Amino acid sequence: MLKGISMDKPGHKLLTNLPCWMQEIGRCEKGYEGRFLTKIEHCLPCDVFAREAAHQGTTSQAFMIEQLIGYDQFIISEMQRANLNLKQKVDELSVLLDISTLMQGTTDLDEILYIILSGLTAGFAMGFNRALLFLVDETHKELAGKLGVGPVSGEEANLIWTTMSQQNISLSRMITPEAIHTIKSSKMTQLTQQIRKPLISETGILTQTVIDKKAYLITDAFHDSRVNPDILNLLHSSMFATVPLLAKDKVIGIIYVDNLYSHDAITEEDMESLTRFATLAGLAIAETMAYEQIEHFNEQLEAEIARAKNELQAKERELAHKEKLIALGQMAAGVAHELRNPMTAVRGFAQRIYRRLPETDRNKVYASIIMEEMDRINQLIKDVLDYARKGEPLYELNNIHELLEDVMFLFKDSLQHHPIQIKREYASISPFYFDIGQMQQVFTNIISNAIDVLRDGGTLILRSRLEGEWVYIDIEDTGPGIWPEILNDIFNPFFTTKGAGTGLGLSIADRIVETHGGDILVKSKVGHGSIFTVKLPYRLKLTDSIAMDLGY
Ligand SMILES: Nc1ncnc2c1ncn2[C@@H]1O[C@H](COP(=O)(O)OP(=O)(O)O)[C@@H](O)[C@H]1O
Ligand SMILES: [Mg+2]
Repeated sequence: MLKGISMDKPGHKLLTNLPCWMQEIGRCEKGYEGRFLTKIEHCLPCDVFAREAAHQGTTSQAFMIEQLIGYDQFIISEMQRANLNLKQKVDELSVLLDISTLMQGTTDLDEILYIILSGLTAGFAMGFNRALLFLVDETHKELAGKLGVGPVSGEEANLIWTTMSQQNISLSRMITPEAIHTIKSSKMTQLTQQIRKPLISETGILTQTVIDKKAYLITDAFHDSRVNPDILNLLHSSMFATVPLLAKDKVIGIIYVDNLYSHDAITEEDMESLTRFATLAGLAIAETMAYEQIEHFNEQLEAEIARAKNELQAKERELAHKEKLIALGQMAAGVAHELRNPMTAVRGFAQRIYRRLPETDRNKVYASIIMEEMDRINQLIKDVLDYARKGEPLYELNNIHELLEDVMFLFKDSLQHHPIQIKREYASISPFYFDIGQMQQVFTNIISNAIDVLRDGGTLILRSRLEGEWVYIDIEDTGPGIWPEILNDIFNPFFTTKGAGTGLGLSIADRIVETHGGDILVKSKVGHGSIFTVKLPYRLKLTDSIAMDLGY
């Protein structure tokens, strides 16, 4: 049989295996086109045949028939092979379509990864023995193993896949929460998760797949310097492939596959299919990740909105309350102011009467009671006016400890009359900016309350500390403490538990501290005592905004 016809004219390949009519279009000497049968017809008058037939001592036609007899078997098997290839391609594409449809139906990352690995190991799909999936961790700049399908679960999976293909079970029915759970806790997944490769410093085939954005087929892993020894130790496969998972030119992970048990070689065709598959998988993963990110972001946003709404409501309530208090304070101030003059007159006349009466006259006692009561009402009026006054702080550099001592000096008399022990725990705090007059009122009000509750004895502790940008002053007493039920009310104006109290001391103190940009905190335990903490900004210089506000 003729082994080939030489076509050694320029531009023609030297054909040694097949006659010209078996070759591709345009290769025939005469340039005839079409399939081989038409070529045969065309070839009948072909000079090449004629020449060859003559050479063999036969006619073109007889030579032709002889050729056909020799090649028909070959043609049939070629057609069968082409058909099989085509069928495989159709199968592969329909599996890809199935997988793609499934992936579109979920937004769960675990489910997507599971579908991908199922596609890689499914008997009728890619059919690899093992498949491992790694994702790029942007935060830690590393490639981290996520999920693996391996020998144990792989065998089971293969069995299921075979049954599935026989019984025509759809891929979608295989994706159950139980199956995903099994794969997630499988030995192969545990092994995969042991592999983490820093993307910056680490070299080796896995990170190279990410960095080069290209697939690698390793045919002799044990003698290939690109393969890290730890990968060999863990996976033991001499032939494997790695493919990047790409999403819009960005590598989001890689797939590793091998045939450790069947020892089937990974072919160039396999690599093509893998690359096609990885493109699909990469897009699905990226989409799911973006979806999860958006969902997470939305959840955060919703929580933030709820928090802001609550805060707004609380602030609105507080504002309404404050407005009410201010109106009340202003009204009280108006009344107080009106009362002041007649009061001064009453006090003055009572004093006059008191002076004029002899010591024995019992009216003298009544006059002194009128004077005392007038003094008390006067104090109340002073408090109300203080409360209603809005004064902005006059910021100056002052020493907080000196101020505390000045206040203590004011209470010298009452301290002498009561068995109160005073302790000082002062930190070293250099002078800072505050309004000395206003702050004196704050500490007078708080310390006077403490002395009130220590009339039967106890300890008063004055403590200061510096924490970052804040100064904390504790006024601690070992008095009876404050019942939790009223703790929220003590800063309200006119709230008092004392017979002779005005209930304005703490609300005045609170307002002053607030305008200084600070806060008053209270801790109290019934039967043990209370700690009032004044928290003030440690202003070592005036910020531009304060200086500007104050017109400095
Ligand atoms: N150190 C303290 N120990 C216990 N209760 C306190 C203390 N300081 C304040 N209180 C409570 O807070 C209330 C309000 O205080 P304040 O505004 O100074 O008004 P007043 O002293 O006129 O009652 C007091 O009546 C008291 O019930
Ligand atoms: Mg008070």
